[in-house]
Amino acid sequence: MPRVAVIPGDGIGLEVMREAVRVLEAVESRFSPGCELVHWDLGADRFLRDGITITDEEFASLSNDHDAILLGALGDPRVPGNQHARDILLGLRFRLDLYVNYRPAVLLDPALSPLKAPGDIRLDIFRENTEGVYVNLGGTFKEGTDRETAIQEDLNTFTGVERICRAAFEHAVKRGRSRVTLVDKANAMPAAGRLWRRVFALVASDFPDIDTDAMYVDAMAMDLVRRPTRYEVIVTGNLFGDILSDLAAELVGGLGAAASANVHPGRHALFEPVHGSAPDIAGQGVANPLGAIASAALMLDHLGHAEAAQAVEEAVVAAVDGGVRTADMGGDRSTEQVGTWIADRVLSGG
Ligand code: NAI
Ligand code: MG
Repeated sequence: MPRVAVIPGDGIGLEVMREAVRVLEAVESRFSPGCELVHWDLGADRFLRDGITITDEEFASLSNDHDAILLGALGDPRVPGNQHARDILLGLRFRLDLYVNYRPAVLLDPALSPLKAPGDIRLDIFRENTEGVYVNLGGTFKEGTDRETAIQEDLNTFTGVERICRAAFEHAVKRGRSRVTLVDKANAMPAAGRLWRRVFALVASDFPDIDTDAMYVDAMAMDLVRRPTRYEVIVTGNLFGDILSDLAAELVGGLGAAASANVHPGRHALFEPVHGSAPDIAGQGVANPLGAIASAALMLDHLGHAEAAQAVEEAVVAAVDGGVRTADMGGDRSTEQVGTWIADRVLSGG
């Protein structure tokens, strides 16, 4: 019986996670995957109350006693610097070694795209999640003076590159995608570029049926706007993946509907909407719950409940098609109305 840690977190994280849980309860009634949802009180409220972000025991329990983590969002204006968000979210990513950040971007309705003629956009972005410039190696010298020097190192390891490339190719095979595109900046950052290109080619040789190509990140940013349907699976480093996946999310209807998985295959997995805690709309009941609900679908698939995952995905598509949308998607429904509609649809098998 899979145990799922539910961490709503802060701001709209609480609101969208309520709807994701509602949908998971509907899934339980219809498909009986036997998921036990364990609610975790981690976030700004807890930090402000107890002065604790997350303890070593909590890390241990999240990693050992749970099969997956479903997280809303972390970040609160009452916590300057968002220390709790860094400790909890980046802590989980690094300590559980969740090296695959999978961010699909699928266009559900052409009218949702800012592009004039978007076409059928289906991008699966694989972002390396534990290395790159986000490891915070480096430091500052003569800080606060006009001689200040800041060094932020870009860490790339053979193992790190190999495993994210392999995850991307395995995904392509599993999902019937025909091409994997490497994105880097090998012209201006040749040391990292050489490693990525060599290892990408090495992994690709194990997948002779999958086509490959490589793009510089600046050209890719341009091309994703110009002809996004040219791309299927994209694999890239931490920084470029962070940026391109936000761009891709916007191409298909905005942050509110974007889902993601943070995975160490065979070990740990954390699922979360791409968006943050959105303090500007928190508490108003207008947040789009689709990103959180689609993240729950990714989780169900990961836990081996493909049929249930598909039912949730279909219900999300039906909601969008039927105009059951929050304001960010041009609709007038509340967070709860969208969540309830999708849960009902899953229940009825609509
Ligand atoms: P954000 O994603 O929270 O919001 C950006 C904009 O998108 C806002 O205008 C917001 O209203 C809108 N938006 C986001 N999600 C939405 C949804 N589901 N429905 C409708 N509109 C939505 O990013 P922002 O404002 O940069 O960060 C706010 C806080 O969230 C900060 O504390 C930040 O550190 C944190 N954050 C946390 C993340 C996480 O937990 N994974 C990711 C990004 C930011
Ligand atoms: Mg980001």
